[in-house]
Amino acid sequence: MMILKINNQSFEVDVDVATPLLWVIREQAGLTGTKFGCGIGQCGACTVQLDGVPIRSCLTPLQAAADKEVITIEGIANDSELHTIQRVWIEEQVPQCGYCQSGQIMSAHALLANNTSPTDKDIDEAMSGNICRCGTYSRIKTGIKRASEELAAASSINTENNG
Ligand code: FES
Ligand code: FES
Repeated sequence: MMILKINNQSFEVDVDVATPLLWVIREQAGLTGTKFGCGIGQCGACTVQLDGVPIRSCLTPLQAAADKEVITIEGIANDSELHTIQRVWIEEQVPQCGYCQSGQIMSAHALLANNTSPTDKDIDEAMSGNICRCGTYSRIKTGIKRASEELAAASSINTENNG
């Protein structure tokens, strides 16, 4: 038995600690926004964050998440509002089939948490492990740039209001 923290909630899980985190997230916690693609760490569809770091949950054993916090696509919005990246993704019509996009968003979210104004090169490096079979790469880049501008504008408004 292990307590797994996902999206600020605790889940009691009773499976082998070598089980890939992806299956625990989907089948034990019932959070199906994280997708199974290749199963060998090559596509990024299964990307979640472990203490803020994007990881491939298909290759990460449950044990690696002990005493850490997992964040999935379901955990970045708050109850009443989508995260800026999710809203921009919709407004820019980034997804095509959509299958890869929760992984894309989790990598983009981690990038923008650490780098508020990424260059094209920064974006290419951060997103290089996320494959899109529909070829939505240019819209993903547009979405990340727009989200970075909106997040920067929101943070400057907050700073002014608090200053
Ligand atoms: Fe994990 Fe493809 S399903 S990297
Ligand atoms: Fe179809 Fe990326 S939107 S695989």
